[in-house]
Amino acid sequence: MSFLRIENVSKVFPGARQGLFGRAEGFRALDDVSLSIPRGASFGLVGESGSGKTTLTRCILRLETLSAGKIWFDGTDLHQLPPQAMRRLRSRLQIVFQDPYASLDPRMTIHDIIAEPMVIHADTMPLSARQRTERVLELLLQVGLRSEHLFRYPHEFSGGQRQRIGIARALAAKPEFLILDEPTSALDVSVQADVLNLLHRLQDELGLTYFFISHDLGVVRYVCDDVAVIWRGKLVEQGPVERIFDSPQNDYTRMLLDAMPDPDPDLSPFRRAQTTGEIA
Ligand SMILES: Nc1ncnc2c1ncn2[C@@H]1O[C@H](COP(=O)(O)OP(=O)(O)O)[C@@H](O)[C@H]1O
Ligand SMILES: [Mg+2]
Repeated sequence: MSFLRIENVSKVFPGARQGLFGRAEGFRALDDVSLSIPRGASFGLVGESGSGKTTLTRCILRLETLSAGKIWFDGTDLHQLPPQAMRRLRSRLQIVFQDPYASLDPRMTIHDIIAEPMVIHADTMPLSARQRTERVLELLLQVGLRSEHLFRYPHEFSGGQRQRIGIARALAAKPEFLILDEPTSALDVSVQADVLNLLHRLQDELGLTYFFISHDLGVVRYVCDDVAVIWRGKLVEQGPVERIFDSPQNDYTRMLLDAMPDPDPDLSPFRRAQTTGEIA
């Protein structure tokens, strides 16, 4: 059974108002999208900027209503859940955002940023303040940061370190499923590899399921088992990563592959960093 199943999902954003009763035609950001992610998988979604990737994550998290279709998480129809049940379920389904500069509250300490999901999900995760701090420390070490970072603020950290903080925060409520929306796109190439290696290791250690979104096929090839290619809100192709890379059936996929700077994974910085094991 699939863990996350997206079934014929469409999302139309309403057009601008025109006059008293009129509206311009809406914008179809997602058009009949279906995909299925088994438990434990690392499933990639690739497409250029503006193709609807973030809209799909917002639909999964119920930050957008659906114009059509259904989204199932572990057999539950997400958009039919009462708010209270959805809130509980959200502890199992977390997201790492693209921009580690915008997604961390600059006025909060690292401790409070990482502890916040434990406070929000205190009903499913009853911890004392001391236990929360212990767990924050454990998470800091798990993502390659140190205990002396605990009471510092986001501006004291590099982009790569901030993304590690974002990952620790996403892991705080012990999720089973992570949505990673371009988690390395805002980072320098040299740091991207370290963060990808960290995500790889965490998936193994914690048995997580990943929905990994990127506009970079090289990154997806490194992280994912299966991949779907999205173009203007439509999935044009999906399948095992090797098949999509080695014999793409769709013109758009071929174009994306041709635009890849380094199609040989053995030469990519991700593989090289894996062997040197450097830390961002
Ligand atoms: N709230 C909204 N209202 C109208 N259009 C939107 C809204 N959110 C996203 N869009 C449009 O939907 C398209 C897909 O956006 P997005 O999902 O952010 O793409 P991606 O994450 O692939 O870059 C874009 O053209 C964007 O302008
Ligand atoms: Mg996006």
